[in-house]
Amino acid sequence: MTQELTSPSPAPQAPGTGRGPGWWRDAVIYQVYVRSFADSDGDGIGDLRGARERLPYLKDLGVDAVWLTPFYASPQADGGYDVADYRAVDPLFGTLQDADDLIRTAHDLGLRVIVDIVPNHTSDRHPWFQDPELSRQRYLFRPGKGESGELPPNDWESVFGGPAWTRTDRGDWYLHLFAPEQPDLNWDNPEVHTEFEAIMRFWLDLGVDGFRVDVAHGMIKAPGLPDIGHGAQAQLIGAQVLPFFDQDGVHAIHRAWRRLLDGYGDAHGRQVIGVAEAWAPTAERLALYVRPDELHQAFNFQFLNAPWQSDALRSVIDASLAATASVGAPTTWVLSNHDVVRHTTRLGGSLARARAATLLMLALPGSAYLYQGEELGLPEVTDLPDEVRQDPAFFRGGRATGAAGPGTDTESAPDGVAAAGGQDGFRDGCRVPLPWSGALPPYGFGPGGSWLPQPADWGGLTVAAQTGDPASTLELYRAALDLRRRLPGLGDGPMTWAPAPDGVLAFTRPGLLCTVNTLGHDVGLPAPGTPLLSSAPVTVDDATGRLPGDSCTWWAI
Ligand code: GLC
Repeated sequence: MTQELTSPSPAPQAPGTGRGPGWWRDAVIYQVYVRSFADSDGDGIGDLRGARERLPYLKDLGVDAVWLTPFYASPQADGGYDVADYRAVDPLFGTLQDADDLIRTAHDLGLRVIVDIVPNHTSDRHPWFQDPELSRQRYLFRPGKGESGELPPNDWESVFGGPAWTRTDRGDWYLHLFAPEQPDLNWDNPEVHTEFEAIMRFWLDLGVDGFRVDVAHGMIKAPGLPDIGHGAQAQLIGAQVLPFFDQDGVHAIHRAWRRLLDGYGDAHGRQVIGVAEAWAPTAERLALYVRPDELHQAFNFQFLNAPWQSDALRSVIDASLAATASVGAPTTWVLSNHDVVRHTTRLGGSLARARAATLLMLALPGSAYLYQGEELGLPEVTDLPDEVRQDPAFFRGGRATGAAGPGTDTESAPDGVAAAGGQDGFRDGCRVPLPWSGALPPYGFGPGGSWLPQPADWGGLTVAAQTGDPASTLELYRAALDLRRRLPGLGDGPMTWAPAPDGVLAFTRPGLLCTVNTLGHDVGLPAPGTPLLSSAPVTVDDATGRLPGDSCTWWAI
């Protein structure tokens, strides 16, 4: 099933090669959720050609790299996170040639490309799982409990709801931490290690600059697969170490991958990276994934989950910076992705807060990930009819986040933050195809329709409508990314808190002071300099700056 390139050619060189200080340390990386980004062929599903055609837009936006969500051959039981062939492109998204073309075009534009790798589980249609003998060595099969093995081997629950075990026709059970169509691999089997290293080399040979490692905290399970003795386990994810998540054994895998990535990079004069999607209970445990001999980055979901309160934000920023500094890694900030409620909606349905949160994030030291559409200020879509829903968790009555962080189920999440404001906690509402132009759906998404319906009132939110409007969210992102490139030291450099009134954060970066007013009303303070960029109009009178409610301002100092 592996596809061939029609014109194999040497992998294109990524922009800026060699080990150097590490391009990822302050990179802004844009997540392309391929099926919802741009559709080139009119089937209503975004594809690689569509993404390639829009790369100049991303270059113009000012990002450094793109991360493409899985486009591999897959039955699409979980939006492509159920991979049947890791070396083939699903016809829904194009061909291997299209992937090659996209990587080349990105590099020609000076953009790097990161692809997803899904090592915790495969699709149940993967040839390994289809083979009765192989499957029992390479996946986690166990006999059931009860008189005739009719009960699951332990009490583990799937992140998507229901038991984490499914019984086969042969009477034994296999583990799936996600959907039954996503059986968990047996990482005690060396052949699994060998295969994933080969898959990485395959994509590195095609020119990619790194991997976003899906469920990077999941591959190793506690010996003996012990019971948890607690229901509603998804609520515990990211709050404590579980026998199936954040086991210490996963770090040996990440160390091996770092050796592979560095060895490959050195041999080819490139810097190739791994970024962990890991849900760990504390900033300290998360930092273990980015020790110098492990992955380069790990998404900071504690920041994503922080409420819009100055004290909470400050303590999560401090904890994150301290933890990553202790291992010499940069912090990797993120506010939205394809698994959580978009931050415009999550932060109280307030575009003002979302814009302020973004400016805050982009002023912090380290790297930042943007999720497609946040630069347009898109809200979560909260009125999707049942018949269009696709999130497997919706059908299993489970949790909202595949990432399995501290859930997006507003009722039951430990802090309910990631879920706040969503339709019902499921993930389709953040995956609605992007509006590019025009007054009516599909708003230039493609020549056909769109796989999820777009709201009728998105005409004013399109890229075309916002371009050139200085008050638009798109132009705010462009200006912030432009300044970030032009101000030396704004990426990976020192940060110092400055005095500020209650409810306000202030900190300095090289050449800049950032203020964040988390209150719903104006706050006055001695103007710390000249406003450079603000998420809302800021005024300075007689040396007093007035910060609008829910705003962030960058001041030249
Ligand atoms: C990750 C992905 C999510 C997916 C899950 C299972 O959390 O981000 O979308 O459902 O892994 O692969």
